[in-house]
Amino acid sequence: MRIDIITCVPAIFNGMVDQSILKRAGDKGLAQIHIHDLRDYAVNKHNQIDDYAFGGGAGMVLMIEPIDKCIANLKSERSYDEVIYMSPDGEQLSQGMANELSLNKNIIMLCGHYKGVDERVREHLITREISIGDYVLTGGELAAAVVADSIVRLLPGVMNDETSALTDSFQDDLIAPPVYTRPAQYNNWSVPEVLTSGHQAKIEEWRFNQQVKRTKEKRPDLLKNKESKD
Ligand code: ADE
Repeated sequence: MRIDIITCVPAIFNGMVDQSILKRAGDKGLAQIHIHDLRDYAVNKHNQIDDYAFGGGAGMVLMIEPIDKCIANLKSERSYDEVIYMSPDGEQLSQGMANELSLNKNIIMLCGHYKGVDERVREHLITREISIGDYVLTGGELAAAVVADSIVRLLPGVMNDETSALTDSFQDDLIAPPVYTRPAQYNNWSVPEVLTSGHQAKIEEWRFNQQVKRTKEKRPDLLKNKESKD
């Protein structure tokens, strides 16, 4: 899978693309993340990419021309399944959405900044808008990194244990069960006995019951979702 990220602050992605799961996926040839600096498509020698809003008001708006040129340049080289704009008023990211996005071959993610982008970008160039939650970040970069991470870790072969992404919280509208590791006794705090019993069927049953219990306690809204789907 290929993810092209368009940003006016490319440096934000430095550590993310050359560390983390994104790097591992890149090294294995399973995902390529390419960062594009919007300033490379600036409209004049002053490197301008933003301007005042028509009608006045505080804050600068990212201009349509550099964005259009950057997207057109990418599209001239390959076709894209989605051109996503990261925005607090977009559709909220969920595990289901990450699963769906991970099936794509090529996607573009555009990060907004300042007061956002010229509305014509959203009307004519974007196929989908994604928010990572009801709060406003300085720009779409951190949100794009969150979306990229949530997608890339699902690609077959990226995680060491292939089944581990499938047993994540939210995959089945249930929160993941608790996990423990050695030592089995620490400060008189012990690990649930069933986990050291070696009885796999009982362990699986315990884990499932824990998932339901935890979801009821922490996220009862998920159980309602699940009931309406089942
Ligand atoms: N840009 C600014 N805030 C954002 C958010 N919450 N989600 C996605 N993009 C954003």
